[in-house]
Amino acid sequence: MSTTFTLDTSTSRANPTPTPMKRLTVPRIRQSKGGKPLVMLTAYTVRMAQLLDPHCDMLLVGDSLGQVIYGLPHTVAVTMEMMAAHGAAVVRGSYHAAVIVDMPFGSYEASPELAFTNAARLLKETGAAAVKMEGGKVIAPTIEFLTQRGIPVMGHVGLTPQAVNILGGYGVRGKSAEEAQSIVEDAVAVAEAGAFSMVIEGVMEPIAIEITKRVACPTIGIGASNQCDGQVLVTEDMLGLFERTPKFVKRFAAMSKFVAEAVENYADEVRTREFPTQDQTYQSQP
Ligand code: KIV
Repeated sequence: MSTTFTLDTSTSRANPTPTPMKRLTVPRIRQSKGGKPLVMLTAYTVRMAQLLDPHCDMLLVGDSLGQVIYGLPHTVAVTMEMMAAHGAAVVRGSYHAAVIVDMPFGSYEASPELAFTNAARLLKETGAAAVKMEGGKVIAPTIEFLTQRGIPVMGHVGLTPQAVNILGGYGVRGKSAEEAQSIVEDAVAVAEAGAFSMVIEGVMEPIAIEITKRVACPTIGIGASNQCDGQVLVTEDMLGLFERTPKFVKRFAAMSKFVAEAVENYADEVRTREFPTQDQTYQSQP
């Protein structure tokens, strides 16, 4: 389904056609635990949000935009300004999905008060429904502080990419019984603190299954298990825009090939003066 826009000249508003479904709310997402699997993808731009929105329950403005959009080596350098700008673009491009914006590294860990100030800023500047933050037992009091003050929080446990400097890389978590137990405890703490949902990333499958059984909120897996209550992928990964395909990614398209072919054709036609033709140039009326 594609959306077009009709200008209402009396109000100067561009209204989408067909009229979109009502936007999914955080309570409805929370209530969907154990039901039809939830569909989430990352989005950072208005056009991608428009294309993904009709098919997704949630759009995540992930801090993975650091690597995907800005070419950074990891998410540690992502700023509040980046998250606010891209979050607002995704909200403008969507009508149906709930939009969740990642709290960037350094914007929430120091104290619940700092987290509240920055989460409130993200919700005000973007119009998103909720924020996401990484961490387990340590961050649970912050999740409780925010949810009690009107800010819905999605948790993120298992592999937490913002901790790359502690973890030393992005390897799967929970290979030892001790670490597996600690991840389950993290997830339970996050759920009990009031998270409306949580991402489980990069863990051995039994951990994701146990968490999904034990917590009351929907779990969203990435490199976790198809028994989670939903799934998320980085859109550019599933579209095949990158050379590397990590084990947990399925490519649903081979977009980099299409882009390369289109650009090669364009370059050839410019160099041979085949483009532009009369069709693409303005001619005086006969
Ligand atoms: O930043 C991100 O895109 C994420 C998803 C991979 C879950 O956190």
